[in-house]
Amino acid sequence: MEYTTLGRTGLRVSVAGLGCGGPSRLGLRNDAQGESNALGLIRQALDLGVNFLDTAQSYGTESVVGKAIAEVPRDRLVVSTKKTLPPDDHPNPEAEVGKGLEQSLKRLRTDYVDVYHLHGVEPKDYDFAKERLMPAMRRLREQGKIRFIGVTEGFVVDPSHRMLADGLSEDLWDVAMVGFNILNPSARATVFPLAREKRVGVLAMFAVRRALSQPERLKAVVAELIQKGVIAPDTVHADNPLDFVLSESGAKTLPEAAYRFCRHEPSVDVVLTGTGNAEHLAENVASILKPPLPSSTLDKLQTIFGALDYLTGN
Ligand SMILES: NC(=O)c1ccc[n+]([C@@H]2O[C@H](COP(=O)([O-])OP(=O)(O)OC[C@H]3O[C@@H](n4cnc5c(N)ncnc54)[C@H](OP(=O)(O)O)[C@@H]3O)[C@@H](O)[C@H]2O)c1
Repeated sequence: MEYTTLGRTGLRVSVAGLGCGGPSRLGLRNDAQGESNALGLIRQALDLGVNFLDTAQSYGTESVVGKAIAEVPRDRLVVSTKKTLPPDDHPNPEAEVGKGLEQSLKRLRTDYVDVYHLHGVEPKDYDFAKERLMPAMRRLREQGKIRFIGVTEGFVVDPSHRMLADGLSEDLWDVAMVGFNILNPSARATVFPLAREKRVGVLAMFAVRRALSQPERLKAVVAELIQKGVIAPDTVHADNPLDFVLSESGAKTLPEAAYRFCRHEPSVDVVLTGTGNAEHLAENVASILKPPLPSSTLDKLQTIFGALDYLTGN
C-alpha cells in the first residue's frame, strides 16, 4: 500500500479507501450477500493495507465496520462517516447532529470519528449546512468526538460541483468528497484548485460506477454523447469507446483504467472503491497501486471528455 497525507488534517491515509456505501454497500444493499461477506471484505481491505474506511449513517454499514475495526488498534485506522442532513425546518438541527454522531459512535464501537462529514450537501442546502449544522460540528470537534470536519457533495444532482465550488472558497472544511471520473473530470477546474489553496483533503468517489464497469452501459452513454453532438463520432469507436485507453496503457479492464485515472490526479488524496465482491476489491486495490495512464492517453481523454460536467458515470 502507499500512504499519503490527507490535506491539512495531517492524517496518514492509504491512497485506496474502502467505500462502504455506493451501489454495493459492501454487498449489503438489499442484504444481497450478507454480513459475513461484508466483514470479510473489510478484513481483506485492512490486510491489503487500507486504513481509510468510509461509511455513513444512511448506509447501514456502520455496524459491520464497527465489528471489523474492534479487532484492530484504533489508532491505525482513519474512520470516516457522515451525517444525513436533517430537514431545514427541523426544530433543533444542532441537537440532531449530536444525536446522529452518538448513534454512529455506538454502531462503530468507537469513541471518536476521524472525519465526520455532512452528507450529500446540495447547493440549496449549503447555507443551512453552514449556518445551522456547522456550529454543532465544531462543538463535537471541541469535545474530541470528531477530529476533522468534512463535506460530501450530492454528485448526482450537482455533477458540476456548484456546492463545493462555493463551499471550498471559505475556510471551513478539512476534507471534501468529490465525484471524479473519466467521464466527468470537471472537478479539475472547479474544485481541485480551491482544495489545494485551502489544503483540503480530497476523497474521490464515483471512480467507476456503472458506465466504467459495464461495457454496454459505456456504449450507451457515449452513443448519447455522439447523438447530442457533444463528442465527434470519429474520435471514438462506438462499439468500444475506451479501447484506446486499454491498448495504450496496458490496463486489462475498464475499472483498472478508471481507478488509475483517479489515483494519479494530483489533487486526489484517497480513491474510494466500493464493492461487494472480494475479487473486485483485490483487483481494485492493485489497480490503484499501478502507474498512471500515459500522458498521451490522458491528453486524448481530456480532448474527448474534458469539458463534460454533467455525467456521473451511472
Ligand atoms: N455523496 C456521498 O457522500 C457519496 C455518494 C456515493 C458514494 N460515496 C462513497 O464513495 C464510495 C465509492 O463510491 P462507489 O461505491 O460508487 O464507487 P465505485 O467504486 O465507483 O463504484 C462501485 C460500483 O462499481 C462496481 N465495481 C467495483 N469494482 C469493480 C470491478 N473491478 N469490476 C466490475 N465492477 C466493479 C461495484 O459493483 P460490485 O459490488 O459488483 O463490485 C459497484 O457497483 C462509496 O462506497 C461511499 O463510501 C459517497
